[in-house]
Amino acid sequence: MQTRRFEGKVVLVTGAGSGIGLAAARAFAAEGAKVVLADLAEDKVRANAQEIQQDGGIASSIRVDVSDYPSCEQMVDHTVSTFGGLHIAFNNAGIPSPIDPEFENCSVQEWDRVMGVNLNGIFYAMKAETPALRAAGGTAIINTASAASFIANPGMPSYIASKHGVAGLTKAAALDLVKYGIRVNAVCPGVVNTPMLAAASAAPEMRAAMEAQIPIGRIATPQEIAESVLFLASDAASYLVGSFIRVDGGMTLS
Ligand SMILES: NC(=O)c1ccc[n+]([C@@H]2O[C@H](COP(=O)([O-])OP(=O)(O)OC[C@H]3O[C@@H](n4cnc5c(N)ncnc54)[C@H](O)[C@@H]3O)[C@@H](O)[C@H]2O)c1
Repeated sequence: MQTRRFEGKVVLVTGAGSGIGLAAARAFAAEGAKVVLADLAEDKVRANAQEIQQDGGIASSIRVDVSDYPSCEQMVDHTVSTFGGLHIAFNNAGIPSPIDPEFENCSVQEWDRVMGVNLNGIFYAMKAETPALRAAGGTAIINTASAASFIANPGMPSYIASKHGVAGLTKAAALDLVKYGIRVNAVCPGVVNTPMLAAASAAPEMRAAMEAQIPIGRIATPQEIAESVLFLASDAASYLVGSFIRVDGGMTLS
C-alpha cells in the first residue's frame, strides 16, 4: 500500500523541471503533499504540475531564477498564497560547469554563473523560505549537494567549489535553524541519469567509463535520489540535523 507521509504538507521543490527535482516532486505528491514545482524552465514545470494533477495529486508551478533573490521571494509568496504556508523545502536547482583541464580557462563569468545558481541560489532560497517555514511550523529543508561536495574531479573548479559551499552552508543553516524546529540536511548524489548527465556525457563509451568507476557498477535513477530526499523530509529523520546522505553507489568511499 502507498504510504501518505506528507498528507496536507506544503512542499516546495526547485529545479523541478526535470531530473531529480521532478522525481522528488512526483514522489511527494504521490504521498499526499501539495507541491509547488519551481524552475527556470517555466513550460516544463507547468507541464509537470499538470501531469501530477492528472494523476490525482495537488500541484502548482512557478518560474524561478534561484540566482536572483527577488525571484526566490516571489516563489515563496506564490507557495504561501496558493497553498496557505510552507512546511518542507527541497532546494535542488543546479547547473553543471564546462569541463576543462586547464584551471586558468575557468572564466570569471563561468565562475560567477555557476556559483550564482549552485551556491547563491541555495542561500537565496533558504533565506526566502525561512520566514514562511517558521510561520507555518515547517520542519525540513533539504539541499542538493553532491559527491562533489567531498571530492574534486579534474577540470571543474567552479562546480566543485559551489558544491563544497552547499555542504558548508547546509551545516551553518542547520545550526541556526534547528532552534525553530527546522532540520536542514543535504542529499549528495553521485552520478544520476538526468538531462544534466546527458549533457555532460553524450557518448556511450563515456557513460561506460563512468559506470566502471562507480563501485555499485551503474548510474543512479532520479527516483533513487528522491527516496532519500523524502526520508530526510519525513518524521523518520527527526534526529538528523546537518547530515549528508551520500546516494552515490560508493563513489566517495575511496
Ligand atoms: N545528475 C547528476 O549526476 C548529479 C550528481 C550530483 C548532483 N547533482 C545535482 O542535482 C541537482 C539536480 O540536477 P539534475 O541532475 O536533476 O539536472 P537537471 O538538469 O535535470 O535539473 C536541474 C533543473 O534546474 C533548473 N535550473 C537551472 N538553473 C536554474 C535557475 N537559475 N533557477 C531555477 N532553476 C534552474 C533546470 O532548468 C533544470 O530543470 C543539481 O543541483 C545538480 O548539481 C546532479
